[in-house]
Amino acid sequence: MSATDWLERWRQGRIGFHRQAPHPALMRYWPELALDPDAKVLVPLCGKSHDMRWLAARGNPVLGIELSPLAIEQFVSEGGQPALRYRQSGFECTRQGSIELWRGDFFHFHVEQAAELAGFYDRAALIALPPATRQRYAHHLAHLLLPGTRGLLITLTHDDPERGPPFSVTPDEVDRLLSPNFEVTLCAQAEPDAEGLQESVWRLRRRGPTD
Ligand SMILES: C[S@@+](CC[C@H](N)C(=O)[O-])C[C@H]1O[C@@H](n2cnc3c(N)ncnc32)[C@H](O)[C@@H]1O
Repeated sequence: MSATDWLERWRQGRIGFHRQAPHPALMRYWPELALDPDAKVLVPLCGKSHDMRWLAARGNPVLGIELSPLAIEQFVSEGGQPALRYRQSGFECTRQGSIELWRGDFFHFHVEQAAELAGFYDRAALIALPPATRQRYAHHLAHLLLPGTRGLLITLTHDDPERGPPFSVTPDEVDRLLSPNFEVTLCAQAEPDAEGLQESVWRLRRRGPTD
């Protein structure tokens, strides 16, 4: 899907990926990452996910990156708190409490802006991208993060590799894309649901030059 397609989806309210509550796997596995209590967390392709509020409520400041201005406006209005707006490095940014939302393309987010990030959370980001872009995403994520940075990744498989989003990303592909730059550990794999979607939860740690 192109950027225009995503913007159109938000305009039409076709956001079946959006959950009404924090993801259970986030609540279950995030504490195991044992990040510093105030570690700032990157949430690529963040939508208006409640997961960001859950992270912020735990004490982790959040930096979410999202293409759609509507997603950000809806997040802010649902939050009900005052928001501050500013521009930074070509992104339109909105801060509400300890959550910063940067409106723009994740692939334009540069390493100089990522200096404070100590964790990351990907739910429905990698699997939102078509095969060729997933490689680029994995490289970009690794490029942004310092060695030792830890995060959670939630992926899905289904029976049609061509269909998406959500795209089916197999454990082999997770390994191929991410193992060169991350230690990758499978935390959990759910049973397939009624539609054959099977969710996996991964713990990742950015490798350093000597790992
Ligand atoms: C499947 S949704 C997942 C949203 C969120 N992670 C969640 O769990 O609800 C993918 C989101 O990524 C956004 N998106 C797609 N490509 C993007 C890009 N290159 N940069 C920033 N956001 C992007 C879309 O607008 C959409 O909101």
